Amino acid sequence: MRRTIIAANWKMNNLTSEVINFFAEFGDAALNSENEVIIAPAYPYIPLASALSKNKNIEIAAQDVYPKAEGAFTGMVGGKMLADLGVKAVIIGHSERRRIFGEPNDLIREKVKFVQENGLHLIFCVGETLPERENGVMFDVLKEQIHSAFDDNLTLAPEKITIAYEPVWAIGTGVTATPEQAAEMHAFIRKIMKEKYGYEDSRILYGGSVKPENIQGLMANEDIDGALVGGASLKASSFMKLVNF
Ligand code: PGA
Repeated sequence: MRRTIIAANWKMNNLTSEVINFFAEFGDAALNSENEVIIAPAYPYIPLASALSKNKNIEIAAQDVYPKAEGAFTGMVGGKMLADLGVKAVIIGHSERRRIFGEPNDLIREKVKFVQENGLHLIFCVGETLPERENGVMFDVLKEQIHSAFDDNLTLAPEKITIAYEPVWAIGTGVTATPEQAAEMHAFIRKIMKEKYGYEDSRILYGGSVKPENIQGLMANEDIDGALVGGASLKASSFMKLVNF
């Protein structure tokens, strides 16, 4: 059985007062949900979010990690710091990291390895751009992203390897993949995970303009094991609806 994950990626949003207000309003929403609830605040707000979500069935995640324990890496946050803050999950390969910061597949592969070596839950993002979809190469793009990260590089149990299918054209745009489009891509990823790596129980999340209004349609598909949510996760009123969709 694959337990549904509803994950929030706050990106570079939510300041101290907003984090405080979020958890005050969110209350026991995750305790009352049968789903696994994950929240990824920006690094400086991890301790505050951890403290405010204690014993509330919320796993705090990081949005990235530099794949070293510690040392002379100006501006970076490494493994020892995440462990020190009690972080349990890390998002790797988000399309904003790939595109805005130019993260290449080999660095992403190194991060995938590092997250596993540190026993953290990996949330690995893949997804095609609009031109790639229009040119019909979306399957090749996903294959390349998955193979370059996972070939001879999967060491953790399937429950700790989660993939997020996030079509770049659907992120922050208000345009969601239709349940049919998402289902097709999820089935493709599921097949690779099973046939190539023998990972049947990894969760595959959908991300890209998920909102309370469209989550049910997406989640009706058996290959969609949850959602990675940006914009609609910033406010408790909306994220509450998503965790109890
Ligand atoms: P969005 O972002 O929900 O705002 O589209 C999703 C994501 O980038 O994970």
